[in-house]
Amino acid sequence: MKSWIFSFLIITIFWSCKDNQSPQISNIPHQGVIAEKAMVVSAREEASEIGLAILKQGGNAFDAMMATEMALAVCYPFAGNLGGGGFLVYRLVDGSKGSLDYREKAPLAATKDMYLDQQGNVIPGKSTIGGLAVGVPGTIAGIFEAQEKYGLLDVATVLEPVIQLAEKGFQISETQEREFSALDSLFTVVNGKTILFNKSAKAGEILQNKVLANTLRLLVAGGSNAFYEGVIADSLVAFFQRNGSIITHEDLKQYQPVWREPITFQYKEYSISSMAPPASGGICLAQMMSMIKPFKIKDYGHNSLKTIQVLVEAERRSYADRNYYLGDPDFVDIPTQHLLSDLYLMQRMENFSFERATPSTEIQQGNIAIYEIDETTHYSIVDSFGNAIAVTTTLNGAYGSKLFADELGFFLNNEMDDFSSKPGEPNMFGLVGAEANSIAPAKRMLSSMTPTIVEKDGELFMTLGTPGGSTIITSVLQTVLNVIEFDMGMQQAVNAPRFHHQWLPDEIRMEPQTFSPELLGKLEKLGYIFSDKPTPILGKVDGILVLDDGRLEGGADRRGDDTAVGF
Ligand code: GLY
Repeated sequence: MKSWIFSFLIITIFWSCKDNQSPQISNIPHQGVIAEKAMVVSAREEASEIGLAILKQGGNAFDAMMATEMALAVCYPFAGNLGGGGFLVYRLVDGSKGSLDYREKAPLAATKDMYLDQQGNVIPGKSTIGGLAVGVPGTIAGIFEAQEKYGLLDVATVLEPVIQLAEKGFQISETQEREFSALDSLFTVVNGKTILFNKSAKAGEILQNKVLANTLRLLVAGGSNAFYEGVIADSLVAFFQRNGSIITHEDLKQYQPVWREPITFQYKEYSISSMAPPASGGICLAQMMSMIKPFKIKDYGHNSLKTIQVLVEAERRSYADRNYYLGDPDFVDIPTQHLLSDLYLMQRMENFSFERATPSTEIQQGNIAIYEIDETTHYSIVDSFGNAIAVTTTLNGAYGSKLFADELGFFLNNEMDDFSSKPGEPNMFGLVGAEANSIAPAKRMLSSMTPTIVEKDGELFMTLGTPGGSTIITSVLQTVLNVIEFDMGMQQAVNAPRFHHQWLPDEIRMEPQTFSPELLGKLEKLGYIFSDKPTPILGKVDGILVLDDGRLEGGADRRGDDTAVGF
């Protein structure tokens, strides 16, 4: 297909797949669902209910993780997946914390310039649509690893309600009807035939995915081995070969998730843990919060001119570092200590002034002397034992590469686009990457995912995260600040209007119709530039807050079909 057609389709689909613009927030309840002991918050009610059912059966957060994640793959194929990857951050009841990286990897046959033409230009669509866009999936390895290490129930028990969901079907939402209809022709072009998710699917109807039910049964019988070396692997590799992917049996066989130390930092009386590279969320969140800490944003007020200035300038500086220094830590040395040092971050904000915006052209990656070297989905779970998890998982773009393995019942990711195909060239989220995130065989691509757990006085306080590509980190930042600086509850914090800056392009994306023209005018006078594109929703944050009396409040984002359930 000609490259301009790809570009056109990608842009059309990207915008058509953004969920509805924000409803008027005054109509949205300020308080979320309250529960005594346990809670699941995810992008779909069915998935939250299945996670909760597993908790009620005596399972813990890690059992519920497997169930919720697979249920999302059934009823929320937009981002829920078997063919993608993700990150888990957890806090056990004894206070110990950790994280699991089950991010996709580049295939062994991948090369640095695989998405460039002979002139060295990026070929539009090649890293986002179809077989070459697919990274080696990590989700099944990740959920099995976590459940095997910490779960209490057997896999058959955990996956049974998910198999029933796939078998009996789920109700198609209005958003899904719109998406399937908008994507119908692209799905058909990419797959060479009409797939299960197509324009004939109408809201309110039931959609069954019996093929996926069968794949889940194979996983119950054979464990993750079935996916990486067994019958599922055989079917998947044959599918890859038919569809232009370079992923082989060896790629699947070599895939391993990695337990990593989370990035943990202090903000006032709060200890915050988030995901380390190859996710950029933890380092950037720590940087931004350190840069913000000296400013009295509580006094400035929520979403006031001065607060927005401080946050935007911290965001801008952190994304400049992200894009230069961060990549897969198994391949590049990341100067984490320097990037997180108070001195460095203080120096980073030295040229900030309330009198004018700092143009992004004046911000480069910080000068470090010793160089040591959206569409996604998130769910949060707290179980009745006191364990908490934050999990963000993705296919990258909506429905990933659009390739649907019809003999297995799931979509494949287009995560290869999260590499910098060409340093200096923006990816589908407009993020400009550098050498540290260039493509290499078996390397993990840099992510913005930011599953995060907050403790107060050594106790669990909050678990949260969000989808949103490059906007993930700033949405998590603002939601955390809404609770700890602006005294909001979980739902109110999630509801609040958000904004985003990522260094390049040098523009602020504001949620439409939620900031006053007067405020925008003042920002403009100071030199801030606003995106002229229609701003899609910024994140869909799902979080759980521990209230003073020990009960749990869920925050399920009003921007999607997200649902909190608990007992
Ligand atoms: N694919 C979005 C992310 O990993 O940040």
